[in-house]
Amino acid sequence: MDLIFEKSRPGRRAGRVPDYGLPVPEVPAELRRATPPRLPEVAESEIVRHITALADRTFGIDTGFYPLGSCTMKHNPRVNERVGRLAGFRDLHPLQEDDGAQGALELEWRLQQILAEVAGLPAVTMQPAAGSQGELTGLMLVRAYFDDHGEGDQRDTVVTADTAHGTNPASVTMAGYKLEKVETDARGNLDLDDLRAKVDERTAALMLTNPSTLGLFDEGIEEVARIFHDVGALLYYDGANLNAVVGRSRPGDMGFDIVHFNLHKTFSQPHGGGGPGAGPVAVRADIEPFLPSPQVVRDGDRFRLDHERPKSIGRVRGHSGPFGVFVRSYAFILAYGPALREMSDAAVLNANYLLARLKDVYELPYERHCMHEFVLSAQNLKREHGITALDVAKRLMDYGIHPPTIYFPLVVPEALMIEPTETEPKERLDAFVEAMRRIAEEAAESPELLREAPHGRPVRRLDEVRAAKQLVVRYLFDDSVGAAVESARSDSSARENP
Ligand SMILES: Cc1ncc(COP(=O)(O)O)c(C=O)c1O
Repeated sequence: MDLIFEKSRPGRRAGRVPDYGLPVPEVPAELRRATPPRLPEVAESEIVRHITALADRTFGIDTGFYPLGSCTMKHNPRVNERVGRLAGFRDLHPLQEDDGAQGALELEWRLQQILAEVAGLPAVTMQPAAGSQGELTGLMLVRAYFDDHGEGDQRDTVVTADTAHGTNPASVTMAGYKLEKVETDARGNLDLDDLRAKVDERTAALMLTNPSTLGLFDEGIEEVARIFHDVGALLYYDGANLNAVVGRSRPGDMGFDIVHFNLHKTFSQPHGGGGPGAGPVAVRADIEPFLPSPQVVRDGDRFRLDHERPKSIGRVRGHSGPFGVFVRSYAFILAYGPALREMSDAAVLNANYLLARLKDVYELPYERHCMHEFVLSAQNLKREHGITALDVAKRLMDYGIHPPTIYFPLVVPEALMIEPTETEPKERLDAFVEAMRRIAEEAAESPELLREAPHGRPVRRLDEVRAAKQLVVRYLFDDSVGAAVESARSDSSARENP
């Protein structure tokens, strides 16, 4: 497929800005471009075809099954988009005075209340724009809390699990803490002996996902909470993925003091490719004074942004949060109403159904029921036929299914991490099972078929290391660079379909 710049012809236009005879603004000379921007010049019909052809090559949750473990690709109800586009929400200016934004502030406040109930903790900030930003905010709250208690210098370490999502250690480091990793035991729980040896009065917090990224609920969670609280440390819950927990158990009741949510995973949101998202953080009462400013508060029948927060860690984002995301997630939650826990029940049931139907063909590293997701290993295929998790993932694309997450968590070799979500019907789950079982047979019968997969996609096996290391994200006009691109193209053309 040609790039848009290759389709460009001088003088072609998709539209023309009307001439209103307005005076031409005087742009100061030092701010003017030396040369006009090099934009593609294409007629509207060709742009539409170009974008449509790109869209046709894209796989999304609306195209087919997307069991990307830990990333929660669930159906996004269309009514939520409609609600998000209501003029009173869509056209609000972020600096709108509180009086002109009562409906929006009320929605944000009500969502705060619901999240507080889901977390089992009383106070919530809506500011962070992603799970990872929620993590960083949470750790800044940990620091503010210990500074306020005169222990800021003493507590310099945060403990995470060896199954932790990659953002956890990154957030710990960004927040200026030392990282201590605890191992997973043979049942997939935190290894309590390892944990006890690593927790002392220098520990500021534990950062944990429960259920873990193995899809397993930690059976020792009460003891874990005791170990940390006994040394005065805090418990941070990475609630990015609450799909098994909502309405069933509450992190606050498990002993956690700070929790972040990924609204874009648990409460539906068209996400992927970096956004949009929201990472609200819930905290216990004595951490509330440190929450970012401003906070949405209720005074009788009125709602306002409270900026008078002397102990606050300050702003972590412009304005009060990613508002469009709030509207969609609020609509999603209201549609369930008091039956919200049915969402988690169905997510867990779907995951266990897949687990039960696949565990005789792929290795199951921890022989337990799972929560909203589970991790299999393709190690048996590797041992017997030299077929890897990557080969399985690529071959799934030929069956019209998005690959699961692979090679994560790191504690499982050849990991295939599968999250079906509650929004899939049994027929889709069965089709996935059939594809996975067929692929295991193919591994024995014709391993080359898997090693060269995918066969039916516009792009076949890529040199993934090179794609990551020599990322070309813009059109390179210069002749010298153009030659480099040409040679990169001819290298890769052997791997691409015509
Ligand atoms: C367990 C876990 N924690 C944290 C995150 C980070 O969330 P975000 O991608 O919104 O920054 C993710 C995202 O995949 C996750 O799965």
